[in-house]
Amino acid sequence: MSNRVNYCIANFKMNIGTQSMLSEYFNELTFWKISDNKNIKIVVAPPFTILRSASKILSNHQLKIEIASQNVNDNNSGAFTGEVSAEMIKDCMVNYTIVGHSERRTLYKETNNQINSKILKLRNYDIIPIICIGETLEERSSNKTDQILINQITEGLKTINDSNFVIAYEPVWAIGTGKTATSDMITDTHMLIRNILNDIGFDGQKISILYGGSVNRNNAKQLISLNDVDGFLIGGASLDANHFYDIYKFIEESI
Ligand code: PGA
Repeated sequence: MSNRVNYCIANFKMNIGTQSMLSEYFNELTFWKISDNKNIKIVVAPPFTILRSASKILSNHQLKIEIASQNVNDNNSGAFTGEVSAEMIKDCMVNYTIVGHSERRTLYKETNNQINSKILKLRNYDIIPIICIGETLEERSSNKTDQILINQITEGLKTINDSNFVIAYEPVWAIGTGKTATSDMITDTHMLIRNILNDIGFDGQKISILYGGSVNRNNAKQLISLNDVDGFLIGGASLDANHFYDIYKFIEESI
């Protein structure tokens, strides 16, 4: 058993986003029994507009849950209409930021270089990046998975020399599709990711690597039992607080 931190992370995307939806959801969380074990963390990533109120609700209720933003701009400040900087995110009492989600890579054409700049900006404010990586179905079918992951990791982590980040392996074809990667694929790929990290000077054994892609209460128990899986990044199934809690419980029982 490793002593890496296990994460249960909810990515609300552009779904739970109004104040009333947030209050209703967080009201459910107040009934949760959250472990004191420091090796498990719950993180919730709502849209920017409700980050501050999410942080406030959690601290008012003294809930052991942390907040992530879903994105950050890779500049400090300036003429970037509609964008949000790391400083602004920190001002909302946020400790984590998701970077390089496949929806951002695909829909907004984010590159590994941009993702690297975002990570560097987050560092200035002690915000921990949750770095999403993963291959498309076409890349997997044409045996390009290894090279894609090597590029995403080496370019994304360029000039980063501490281990204060989390990796989420999310095969693009498994996100929101109801298809999860097989156990073998996940175990092999997580091991590959640790090896890539070792090759570029990190201690891969110390870095939490999460799986994401159609995780739900029916597959979470089996997925968390896999070697090298240190928790989940959850989209669809996290939108129902009780469903998210069931997944959290499976992680808690496994550590
Ligand atoms: P999903 O999304 O759980 O709905 O597949 C995961 C993600 O996009 O992070």
